[in-house]
Amino acid sequence: MDERKSESGSAWTPRGNGKLSAPAVARNTAPILERLRETIDRAARPPAPQARWRALELASGSGEHAVAFARAFADIDWQPSERDPAALDSIAAWRADAGLANLAAPLRIDLADPRWAEALDPPVDLIYACNLMHISPVAVSRNLLTGAARLLADDGILFVYGCFSRSGDFVSPSNRRFDQALRARDPAWGVRDTDFVAEMAADCGLAVSDIIAMPANNTVVILRRGG
Ligand SMILES: C[S@@+](CC[C@H](N)C(=O)[O-])C[C@H]1O[C@@H](n2cnc3c(N)ncnc32)[C@H](O)[C@@H]1O
Repeated sequence: MDERKSESGSAWTPRGNGKLSAPAVARNTAPILERLRETIDRAARPPAPQARWRALELASGSGEHAVAFARAFADIDWQPSERDPAALDSIAAWRADAGLANLAAPLRIDLADPRWAEALDPPVDLIYACNLMHISPVAVSRNLLTGAARLLADDGILFVYGCFSRSGDFVSPSNRRFDQALRARDPAWGVRDTDFVAEMAADCGLAVSDIIAMPANNTVVILRRGG
């Protein structure tokens, strides 16, 4: 099968008209959506027709999550973003097909730029990043957290999904092997530990509020403004 690689090495399958598809999306969209819904429903100020939320997705990849989540949450205005040109085209193509009024055209955001958030207006109610922290240098995670702290509403939520070790525990042998494979590919990549994420977050005024085990040894880390 024809396959494209992103600048970060993600494997994408072409679906025509610029649309790309990530194999993991078919597996992880439903469980992520379930956790997102739970998190959003429990918020002190859930989205409503008269009090819509603004969501910012970072590293949107193919754009398939953006379409699924904008479709699922009609009261949230969903802003996808990427740094990879092929991904930006793909997000735009999926968006054109979907015709969702609450899904914005993708923004080019490169989280390697520590000032990325300065181009955007706060407040953002939800920031979502999936499968990014392990496949980029630590500086990208740090910049993500710093920018989120700048943009999030007082009661805003940063929802991060991916492969994490939890307080030093890789959770499964496959996660440990994945970490080794990532570091062999690029020494700056690697599975991040939830405690390390919490430390970086604390430095910029965010705190981990929930850590949720997900299928296939993945993890959701939810962060909010620190108390
Ligand atoms: C494994 S893919 C995940 C994509 C999507 N979130 C998903 O779950 O399907 C990692 C993505 O991170 C993006 N990425 C890597 N470094 C980035 C950076 N510095 N700024 C923004 N995006 C980045 C890549 O372009 C790629 O699309």
